[in-house]
This record gives sequence, structure tokens and C-alpha cells, in this order.
Amino acid sequence: MSETHILDPGHKSEELETDWPLELSGDDLRRMVEGAMERVVAHLETLPEQPMSYTSGGEELARALREETLPEGATPFTELLETVFDQGLDKTYNTPSPGYLAYIPGGGLLHAAVADLIANAINRYVGVWIAAPGLVELEANVLRWFCQMVGYPEGSLGVLTSGGSLANFTAIVTARRTRLADDFLRGTLYCSDQVHHSVTKAAMLAGFPVGSIREVPSDGSQRIQIEALKSQIDADRQAGMEPFLVVGSAGTVNTGAVDDFEALADVARERGLWLHVDGAYGGFFVLTERGRNAMRGLEMADSITLDPHKGLFLPYGTGCLLVRDKETLRKAHHLEADYMPEMQQAPDLVDFCELSPELSRDFRGLRVWLPLKMHGFSVFREALDEKLALAAWASEELRSIEHMEVVAEPQLSILAFRLQPPNLDGRAIDELNRELLRRINDRQRVFLTATHLEGRFVIRICVLSFRTHLDRMRQALEDIRAAVSEVLTS
Ligand SMILES: Cc1ncc(COP(=O)(O)O)c(C=O)c1O
Repeated sequence: MSETHILDPGHKSEELETDWPLELSGDDLRRMVEGAMERVVAHLETLPEQPMSYTSGGEELARALREETLPEGATPFTELLETVFDQGLDKTYNTPSPGYLAYIPGGGLLHAAVADLIANAINRYVGVWIAAPGLVELEANVLRWFCQMVGYPEGSLGVLTSGGSLANFTAIVTARRTRLADDFLRGTLYCSDQVHHSVTKAAMLAGFPVGSIREVPSDGSQRIQIEALKSQIDADRQAGMEPFLVVGSAGTVNTGAVDDFEALADVARERGLWLHVDGAYGGFFVLTERGRNAMRGLEMADSITLDPHKGLFLPYGTGCLLVRDKETLRKAHHLEADYMPEMQQAPDLVDFCELSPELSRDFRGLRVWLPLKMHGFSVFREALDEKLALAAWASEELRSIEHMEVVAEPQLSILAFRLQPPNLDGRAIDELNRELLRRINDRQRVFLTATHLEGRFVIRICVLSFRTHLDRMRQALEDIRAAVSEVLTS
């Protein structure tokens, strides 16, 4: 029988005895890391002075980069670093800057970047326990610490996701599979009109028609109205629907509002609903005393979304879902396949592929574990407490500016304000505040964004970066004051 071979039969074995450039030697790797590090360090050293958001010319830049053709041959590493640092990094929002007070700031702890280098270099498989029991346990420890942090009992666990959106999605699928039959289209779910749109999107992707998502009005502090929630649930049940899930917010994206979890837990228990809390922005404030007071009852939720790439200042790419009862998560995702190894049966061991839609994935636990172990939770608690104090400080400063209204006082580290001079009507005030925002941001020392509250245009400040301290907040207030006097006199 002739030998079958994937190689062309004309090939000689000597041709296989060559150097394979994809395999770096230790020295090659060191040189690459040093080369990259030089550019990274130079970039980070000037980060605080770099402009906050020079994006004009972004389209031309993007189109110029589209000229890149499929690279058949090699390009020197230094040239590629130039592309990334000189072109790719141009025209961006300066998201890791201390002046980034927009949307929800990330941060990007460098310890996590080092952890990623290690995790990617060792490249072990953590989707199933048996493939790397030690590494899986390190990641599971992170989840156990988070469970302890929120006050969850034994039997709770969760999974690290790529972000808050995927955590909310996994929560909704788990609630659906726990509380509803396979034929679930009569299921209805409830959230406030302030909920993050990732919750609505998650419900849609979990198979619910958008009409099944009931947006309950919020009160003057942007918290879900409990009586309105109860009435809506009861009316839906009477109409033959199957209310099964209520979603609360531990810090809304608009104003950082925290729902009343004790009241939500009562409603959920009395009416047999799953309670999920979206704590993507605010959940980690539970580490602080002020945050814990604001979030009383959080531990009664059936599931909680946290976002370490927000509240623990990690680089983008790490979210987290915690569930009170790990079995609900496992049952929602469990499937068998002939080619898979046996899954762990011991209740204290975990196969991550059984707890999420993902099979293969990065070893994201290390980027959480390393900084937490290097510094301890206490350092994160202090940093988060500082953010709460800075937001309170900013609110007080803003109130001292004539005609300034703090529309949403900080419940955590977000506040919203607008300039409201007399003798201007609603639309003119909106226009004035748009101009105010433009002038604040034009100074390039801070970057703020806006939203709408009760139909009014308002400017937001969100303090969450580990690099933001009082000096930058003073600059923010200086720039706001200067912009206010410009718009009032122009
Ligand atoms: C309250 C809230 N929930 C969910 C999300 C979505 O999280 P991610 O961007 O990590 O997917 C965000 C993002 O800002 C958020 O603020």
C-alpha cells in the first residue's frame, strides 16, 4: 500500500530540517518584549499630558490603514511597532488618562498587562478543570473572593466573561432556563427606564421579543419605582403572561443610581421572579463602607454582574457574572459531547465550559488574580473610596457656580449637571449646555460626555480611573468654570 502523506510526494525530508520562524528562542522573545516595552513605557510616561480626544482626521487615518495589503512576506518588528504606536494610537479617546471622566472609564492596570503576557505565553487550556487544575483553581478563587465580597453563601460561584454585556446575557439565559419552560415566549422581564441597553440587548438575544421587556418608570433619583413594578407584574400575570425576571441596577450608566435591592428582593420573592443586579459600573463599590450602605440587600439577588474592567481598573476584556446557586448556571449550560473529557462531579470543582457559552477562552483569571494578590483588596477599597469622595467633592464645587444645577447628586461616583441661567427656555438651555460641553472638552485636559434626563440635556462626570486624583479634578473644575464664563458672556 502506498504511503499517504499530506506533503507533496516530491518533498524531501531535508527540506523539513530547517529553522521555523514561528518558534521564537528565549532571546528573541526577550528582545521583542524589550522593544515593545520601550514604546509602551514612553507612551505611558506622557499619558497624563496627552490630549483627551483629538479624533479629527480619524477617517483619513482609518482609510490610509486600509491600504495595507495581505502580507505574504515578513516585516521588521520595529516597523510594526511604529504602525501601532504612531498611527494606531493617533486620533483616539485617551481612555486610560486621569482626565477621562466620560462614559464609564476603564483604566488598565499594568499588572494585568503583565499577567496577560504570562497567561498567553504559557497558553494553558482552562475551559475544563482536568486540563489545568491549578490554574482553574486560581481563577475559581477570584470568583469565590467576589462571592464573599458581595455576601453570597456557600454554593455560589460564577464565571469571568469578556465584559458586562456578556455577563448580563449569561444571567438572562440562566434565569430563563431556570424559571421558564423551553416554550418561553410568554415570559416577561422587568427593569427600570434607566437600565443599561446591554440588558435589553441580552433579553433580545436570549430570544425574547422586545415587547416582553417592561421598562418600569424611575423616580426622581433615577431608581426603579417599586409600586409601578408590582402593578406591571400583576397586570401581566392577569393577562396570562409569565413574569420571571426583574433586573436592578447597582449604579446606572446615566447617573450612577442604585435601586432599592431590599424592596426588589421582596417583590421578586413574593412574586416568584429571579432577581438579577447589573453592577457592571457600581458593583465593586460594595468593597467600601459607603458603597455597602448604598447597596443594602445586594446579596439577596440571584445573580450579579460585575465588571473588573471598570471597578477593578483592569484593561478591557474582563467582566464577571456571580450566581447565588452555582447549579443554576451549570444546569443552564450543561451539554455532553463524545469527544469531551469527563466533567468534574465534586461540588467544589469547576469546569468553566459548563458555566458559560464559551469552550476555549483565554486564561482571564490571571489578570484579576495577580493585581489582587499583589496589593490585596484593601488597596482597591481605598482607591474606590477615593472615587466616591472625588465625585462628592466635584458636586459641591459645581453647586458653588452661579446658575449651575446638579441634576443628579452622586449616589456613587457619577454625577450630572447643567447650566441653567434664567430667561432661557428648555431648548436654548440644551443648546447652551452642548456648547458648554464642547468648550470644556476643547481644553483637552478632561473628557466629559452627556446624556438626557427627563428629556433634558445634561453633562455627566464619571470618576472611576485609578489614575484620577484631586489634581485632575481641580483641573476639571477650572475648565468647567472657564467654559461657563465663556458661554455666559458670548
Ligand atoms: C451599567 C452597565 N451595565 C452594563 C454595561 C456593559 O458592560 P460592557 O461594556 O463591559 O459590556 C455597562 C457599560 O458601560 C454599564 O455601564
